[in-house]
Amino acid sequence: MNAAAARHNNAAPIMEVRDLNLWYGDGTHALKDVCFDLYPREVLAFIGPSGCGKSTALKVLNRMHDGGRDVRIEGTVLMQGHDIHAPDVDPPLHRRRFGWVAQKPNPFPASIWENVAYGPRIHGLTRDRDEMAALVEDCLRRAHLWDEVKDHLHDIDGTDLSGGQQQRLCIARALSTQPDVLLMDEPTGSIDPIATAAVEDLVLEMKHHLSIVLVTHSMMQARRVADRVAYFHLGELREIGPTEMIFAAAQDPEARAFIAGQLG
Ligand SMILES: Nc1ncnc2c1ncn2[C@@H]1O[C@H](COP(=O)(O)OP(=O)(O)OP(=O)(O)O)[C@@H](O)[C@H]1O
Ligand SMILES: [Mg+2]
Repeated sequence: MNAAAARHNNAAPIMEVRDLNLWYGDGTHALKDVCFDLYPREVLAFIGPSGCGKSTALKVLNRMHDGGRDVRIEGTVLMQGHDIHAPDVDPPLHRRRFGWVAQKPNPFPASIWENVAYGPRIHGLTRDRDEMAALVEDCLRRAHLWDEVKDHLHDIDGTDLSGGQQQRLCIARALSTQPDVLLMDEPTGSIDPIATAAVEDLVLEMKHHLSIVLVTHSMMQARRVADRVAYFHLGELREIGPTEMIFAAAQDPEARAFIAGQLG
């Protein structure tokens, strides 16, 4: 048992990333020997300057680079001990274990109901319409959107909601396939402060049930919601540790300077 696992109530990591390297087709070496663990029921924030590999690292976890032109990946990513790139892993089934929330809310141009029901339907997660109705309601409740939309599930499109509502709809959609890990890439980057507070509250609630990796440019947000923080710099994961430790006393000089600059 290492010290990190002890901090996480003796839980084994859900994901283990070791010596991860990624090159894009144009030769960009976007990830360099990246190592980290993700524990059950934690929020891990990725911070660092623009272009340093945060989104790339997030996308490796759910194999979003599959099919990307000439993307080359070396190293190991384990999920509950299994190599996610092993030949026996079915990529769509792997991806179903993850929810994805993007910076810009991106609901489908379809009804609120359809936005949430689509994933469970294509994965065959419900047996009949009653079960689907219960699942749609549960996801919308967990995303704190139910009360605002319950009378318009079929007659308002997701794209007609306000920005903050759209982002909560996207969170409901991400939860609908019952993921183990939620990946959020700057999820409050394009919504207002009130909607941001709502999403942050949701993150703190959702982490009781799943692991969350959150990319953020807001140091305040990382402090409010993250259990641990990883600092990326030019493709390297320079430092990872408990949030209060990274903010109070990062060892890496560039991490310290970045945090000081962003806070000041
Ligand atoms: N599809 C791609 N093809 C080629 N290069 C890419 C691709 N996606 C990202 N890159 C490059 O890989 C590096 C890391 O990009 P990435 O998007 O992971 O950074 P980031 O830390 O998320 O930045 P930001 O904070 O601006 O979102 C950058 O140099 C970027 O230009
Ligand atoms: Mg990014």
